[in-house]
Amino acid sequence: MTIQTIATTPFAGQRPGTSGLRKKVTEFQQPGYLENFVEAIFLTLGDCGGRTLVLGGDGRFFNREAVQIILRMAAAHGVAKVLVGRGGILSTPAVSCVIRKYSAFGGIVLSASHNPGGPDGDFGIKYNIDNGGPAPEKITEAIFAHTQTVSEYRISDAGPVDLDQLGSVRIEEMEVEVIDSVADYAEMMSRLFDFDAIRALFQRGFTMRFDGMSAVSGPYAKAIIEGMLGAPAGTVINFEPLEDFGGHHPDPNPVNAAALVALMNGADAPEFGAASDGDGDRNMIVGRSLAVSPSDSLAIIAANATLAPGYRDGIKGIARSMPTSQAADRVAQALGISCFETPTGWKYFGNLLDANLATLCGEESYGTGSNHIREKDGVWAVLFWLNLVAATGKSVNQLVEEHWARFGRNYYSRHDYEAVDAAAAESMMTDLRARLASLAGQTFGDYRVSQADDFEYTDPVDGSVSKRQGIRIIMLDGSRIVMRLSGTGTEGATVRLYLERYEADAARHALDTQEALKPLIDIAEQVSQLKQRTGRQQPSVVT
Ligand code: G1P
Ligand code: ZN
Repeated sequence: MTIQTIATTPFAGQRPGTSGLRKKVTEFQQPGYLENFVEAIFLTLGDCGGRTLVLGGDGRFFNREAVQIILRMAAAHGVAKVLVGRGGILSTPAVSCVIRKYSAFGGIVLSASHNPGGPDGDFGIKYNIDNGGPAPEKITEAIFAHTQTVSEYRISDAGPVDLDQLGSVRIEEMEVEVIDSVADYAEMMSRLFDFDAIRALFQRGFTMRFDGMSAVSGPYAKAIIEGMLGAPAGTVINFEPLEDFGGHHPDPNPVNAAALVALMNGADAPEFGAASDGDGDRNMIVGRSLAVSPSDSLAIIAANATLAPGYRDGIKGIARSMPTSQAADRVAQALGISCFETPTGWKYFGNLLDANLATLCGEESYGTGSNHIREKDGVWAVLFWLNLVAATGKSVNQLVEEHWARFGRNYYSRHDYEAVDAAAAESMMTDLRARLASLAGQTFGDYRVSQADDFEYTDPVDGSVSKRQGIRIIMLDGSRIVMRLSGTGTEGATVRLYLERYEADAARHALDTQEALKPLIDIAEQVSQLKQRTGRQQPSVVT
């Protein structure tokens, strides 16, 4: 075994986005492409002597090859030890858990989340820091700067490590420990939730379907829900991570998890339905004929948090992204705790969690989590709901309806206009921005605008300011229209239109969501000319 120094030249476009570097597999397969980026990570980290890193991914195509390359490069950079998930498998939340548990220096996650997998699909790589959360911008920007000047990379010429064999081997001076992908995460879940009560629930014949969508959450859900909690075999389906996700689009929402939603709408529906995404950090909760809005899910978890052992002492605060509905704000108010409104993206929750200002966090985009790790966590959310069902003896539907009866209902929907002309989308946003000042005070039908602005966030912990985080048009009764451009799309621009209407009257809690929001949808069109500007008559995805 020797360490080699290989000459290389920079690749353009290696700037990490919202969630690391995501590109087509074919781009990653170019000689030196992955190596350059990994070298840039090591150049950014500096001296790795004596340090431990965590490594794993969602099992998509190129995962195993990438793990081998990164191990040999880590050895060449003097890393003392790498904890790698068996088969190269670790979900995003599991990486965060393992980093924290073993006080690792950081971790490398191989995932493009819910982007398609397979030889023609996407691959991705992201770096997490020692708190277990995504690297902050100053680190990702430093990595990017190194990718533009990198001229050589260091790599051991050692042979491949057997990733399927638990235990330790060495590459050069570095120890590689292949760890069980699930064990540490499962142990943490067993401390947070009342596993005895959930086990008793399944013993009583409670029925559930968890759709792993052939992505990474499957092994976790199967080991915990069927293995530890005693749910019957077959409760967790599509549990094996496949290199192309078996053709599934593992982004849990009623559009992509259509099979689960159809099952839950059918006559033989189980009592509880759930799904997660490619790298296991998103979640969808489904009752009988009821897909729970992620915004409601956050609020309901918060309102009932003390039923779960890990949250028995209560929660310090709640944080939600700006476009997420204000259902959680009402819970925070009732509990006498703070509710923070942050820009879109999990990274904005990190400081609030580290400073113990917030315990629970959520985004409307099927992301929910807590201070147990520093990523959103799909299986955690599902277990939280199971814990609530077990502790109250109530169904998902009852929990949701009783929540609405107590706090009122925030009707909520997101309309996505995907891959539209980027220039048209930009100019629509610019024109709308210019009109914001004149919107306040205007009346549209039954609604009167009380405030219209471009959301700006000042982090209460470090004082950093994030501007232009989305246009909000807020009505006198708290109803809202929010518009922003996606920061994760890969083709053209994606316009996201978020709609929220508050309804206190329980007699009007059973309306169809789109019907309930129709007046706001019309106002959004009137002020933005979204359809005409994008040339689209309909959103491509409605959640
Ligand atoms: C989307 C979601 C956002 C989430 C992000 C990463 O970002 O809207 O809530 O944090 O994916 O999972 P967007 O494409 O809207 O910028
Ligand atoms: Zn994800």
